[in-house]
Amino acid sequence: MYWLGLDTGTGGTRALLVDEAGKVRFGFTAPHEEMKMERPLWAEQRPQNWWEAAQAAIRGVLAEAGATGKDVRGVGLTGQMHGLVMLDEAGEVIRPALIWCDQRSQPQVDWINRTVGKDNVMAYIANPVLTGFTLPKLLWVRDNDPASYARLRKVLLPKDYIRYRLTGEFASDVSDASGTALFDVITRRWSHAMVSRLKLDPSILPHVVESSEVTGTVTEAAAEATGLEPGTPVVGGAGDQAASAVGNGIVEEGVVSCTLGTSGVVFAHLERATYDPQGRVHTFCHAVKGKWHVMGVTQGAGLSLQWFRNQLAPGASYDALTAEAAQAAPGAHGLFWLPYLMGERTPHLDASARGGWIGITAKHTRADLIRALIEGVSYSQKDCLEILEGMGVPVESVRASGGGGQSPFWRQVLADVFGKRVAALETQEGSAYGAALLAMVGTGAYSSVPEVCRAVIREVEAVAPRSHEMQIYARGYEVYKALYPSLRPLYGLIASLS
Ligand code: XUL
Repeated sequence: MYWLGLDTGTGGTRALLVDEAGKVRFGFTAPHEEMKMERPLWAEQRPQNWWEAAQAAIRGVLAEAGATGKDVRGVGLTGQMHGLVMLDEAGEVIRPALIWCDQRSQPQVDWINRTVGKDNVMAYIANPVLTGFTLPKLLWVRDNDPASYARLRKVLLPKDYIRYRLTGEFASDVSDASGTALFDVITRRWSHAMVSRLKLDPSILPHVVESSEVTGTVTEAAAEATGLEPGTPVVGGAGDQAASAVGNGIVEEGVVSCTLGTSGVVFAHLERATYDPQGRVHTFCHAVKGKWHVMGVTQGAGLSLQWFRNQLAPGASYDALTAEAAQAAPGAHGLFWLPYLMGERTPHLDASARGGWIGITAKHTRADLIRALIEGVSYSQKDCLEILEGMGVPVESVRASGGGGQSPFWRQVLADVFGKRVAALETQEGSAYGAALLAMVGTGAYSSVPEVCRAVIREVEAVAPRSHEMQIYARGYEVYKALYPSLRPLYGLIASLS
């Protein structure tokens, strides 16, 4: 018997089969089309392509396991957060989705702040409205593509579009809904205040459940398309960060995670909803019933290395690139990388921030460039960690995950930059794994999310910070922190030239 975790990521869709003991048995990834970036800071994907990838991934993983849909007890969904999927009266996709890293909506953010009032926004949703969130994207469409807006009947998040295709239901879960800027994170329901003050039609919003609640079952048509069995229950699931936290066992206080995917996220569990008054980190509902989490986000974490590879080292593997970086000295001889390739969220909340290396001399090598890049992303994750600690969140140790977290070299850099123990986990499957665990809870195999996590998640390797490197990075971090404020006055001007 298996549970299926399905992750609608940015680069691809991953399907995972997990057995009764909570062990990952099979995985299959179907790639997505490249995201379309018509202008700098714009990013779109076709939801129909996510559904094609979901079908391919589910069929692929079943074939790999030699299993049929009858072997699957339940499905858990997860995916990239914040994306805007717009459906018309017939349930058809109206236009490509503006996805999480799309930063075009600053005018709409400003309009929301003027219309609702910045302090009221914090009171209504416990977070500021950011360009990455769903609401300003929706208003961008209202302002710039009124023909599409006029046809709008439902707004869904990426994984919830897959739910709609699988079950016919319009539903979301509390963790993903938290990233829309329309959800009252404290009371765990849509914010009537935001909806009414912005004169939105509440009927465009889906029904919201806790992450392990069942929202519906696989339809005949979806069964035909995927190989799943009609009637298979699908649980609420979670946004990729909350799901990944479940997969990493970040469901109690003390241990935080650092997930280096396309974005980089430092994530902590909260027993009570507390938030940073400056809104530099997000306080969202957790996938653990009745609990919250706080996270800081680096927009261009793994994206930095991916960009480097695509543009400057085509065909190189990530392992080869990190091995090259390891040849350079810690601190990369005074070279710094600012990872602001898609603006930045934590701590700057600035869509106009731009990336780059600072401090290059003729002596620097390609190894220095890569090392500086890995260190720069790690500094930006330290920015997140520092804010969490400033809020009183206990951080005894860090669990690394995501593509970057699988690199022993990167884990050691994180330990040295953070000055904390950094562990890897036995199962490195992050969000798809967390989604499968939520499905196990939702179908009664375990009674709660913390219970399943305690039973199945194990640390395998931990590295301690080294004092010599810690000192180098402590000095480097001071310089890193000073770079953004010195460049900020120029970013608007730079943006106007692009
Ligand atoms: C979280 C976030 C990213 C995306 C893409 O706030 O924007 O983690 O979900 O992975």
